[in-house]
Amino acid sequence: MGDQPDWLAEFTSSLDSDKALFRAVVLTAYAHFFHLLEREIVPKNAYHVLTWLREALKREGEILSGEYEDVHEALEAWLLEKAGKNAGWLAYGKSRNDQVATALRLVLRWKLIGLLWELNRLRGSLLDSAERHLNVKIPLFTHLQPAQPSLASHYLLYVEGEVFHHYRTIWHVLREVVDLCPLGSGPVAGSSVPLNRGRLAELLGFSGVESNTLLATGSRTFASLSVGTVASLMVVLSRVAEDLVIWSTPQFSLVELPQEHISTSSIMPQKRNAVTLELIRAKAGTVIGSLISLLTVTKGIPSGYNLDLQEANLHMLIPVEEATSSARVLADLMKGIKFKEIVVPDTLAQDIAERLAREREITYREAHSLLASTLREVGWDLLKAADKLGVDVPDVEDVLRERGRGAPNPELLTKEIESRRRLLRDDIERLASYEEEKVEAERSLLSMGVGD
Ligand code: ARG
Repeated sequence: MGDQPDWLAEFTSSLDSDKALFRAVVLTAYAHFFHLLEREIVPKNAYHVLTWLREALKREGEILSGEYEDVHEALEAWLLEKAGKNAGWLAYGKSRNDQVATALRLVLRWKLIGLLWELNRLRGSLLDSAERHLNVKIPLFTHLQPAQPSLASHYLLYVEGEVFHHYRTIWHVLREVVDLCPLGSGPVAGSSVPLNRGRLAELLGFSGVESNTLLATGSRTFASLSVGTVASLMVVLSRVAEDLVIWSTPQFSLVELPQEHISTSSIMPQKRNAVTLELIRAKAGTVIGSLISLLTVTKGIPSGYNLDLQEANLHMLIPVEEATSSARVLADLMKGIKFKEIVVPDTLAQDIAERLAREREITYREAHSLLASTLREVGWDLLKAADKLGVDVPDVEDVLRERGRGAPNPELLTKEIESRRRLLRDDIERLASYEEEKVEAERSLLSMGVGD
């Protein structure tokens, strides 16, 4: 760019972006150039440019060391130097705008696939842990006060259910939005070059074409939907982290965390701090920050490409990485977590009141106030109150056995674990073949034009 002083060139430059983005930019260039050749849009003697594009994949450091505005310019300049004049065809029918949009979707696709694998691992780890803790009784809390008796397996299935919802939403966004190809859209409204956009999408292993060229080049909805869902996922992981931080304190003493997830204090030898969970909780903040950055950077710009969008690039990649590592850490923690059985008699109050209503044929409101006033009289001791009222305190196991769908009934939970495992198996199978398809497309793209 012109005669900019260094500090100004540095300000506009985006050369130091994500490693994966470089690879995606080269692949995008490769698909475009190969397409120009296969349709005989450019002369046959330009085939050797493809060889240099394959070489470029191995020369990231060299290519990005020059003083260019961005990776697209750096790559083109390097190609011109190595492959000669014919590399000048690379820009024919291709803008940096459709190229960067394509590359970003490719990178997001790789990273989301990686996240989905970790989420599946987390789901598996939660289901294993639920099986191990099937009958371990714990209280559940509302307002952080003991509410009702439950089972550790019930809690773990709650977490798995949350992860599952996000898994399926990310899967949907990945396949229906991210996986559409912008390439061939030009800067905003196409070009005179007779490109076949369906073919370009196919070469890059996209499932379809992002048809409207203004949408394809100027929109970052594929990113905000992805990061939005990832931020929502992180909110869930953060709440789980918060539960476990609290439950692992000596005061609650409800769970024991695996040693590798705990660190002590440099001065207070008794401390067993749940540091990995604290970091997951913090990373949720980082990811929400990225989402806010992404949305704020994009909200005020007019349609079509604006350089503001360059600033948004990292905000769509880093959060997916943070979520991936958080899921990996939590999956590992769930492998070694131990729930300790704790029955809090107070959590049986509702069941006692329900029994009172049935046995004495009074309304539930009457039973509730009867038990509440007795509790007040005896100083909030449930056993004493039950005694005073002449009602039996039910056995927790009986209470749980009579619970209905979705509640902590061990027999139903066993079935639930089985059916969740089936869902997980299906998801793993679908993800594996999807990933396989993408890897194969990339392999086959890079083999095209070899030897011509
Ligand atoms: N470096 C830009 C990005 O990462 C792409 C270049 C588009 N620049 C432009 N002036 N049209 O988004």
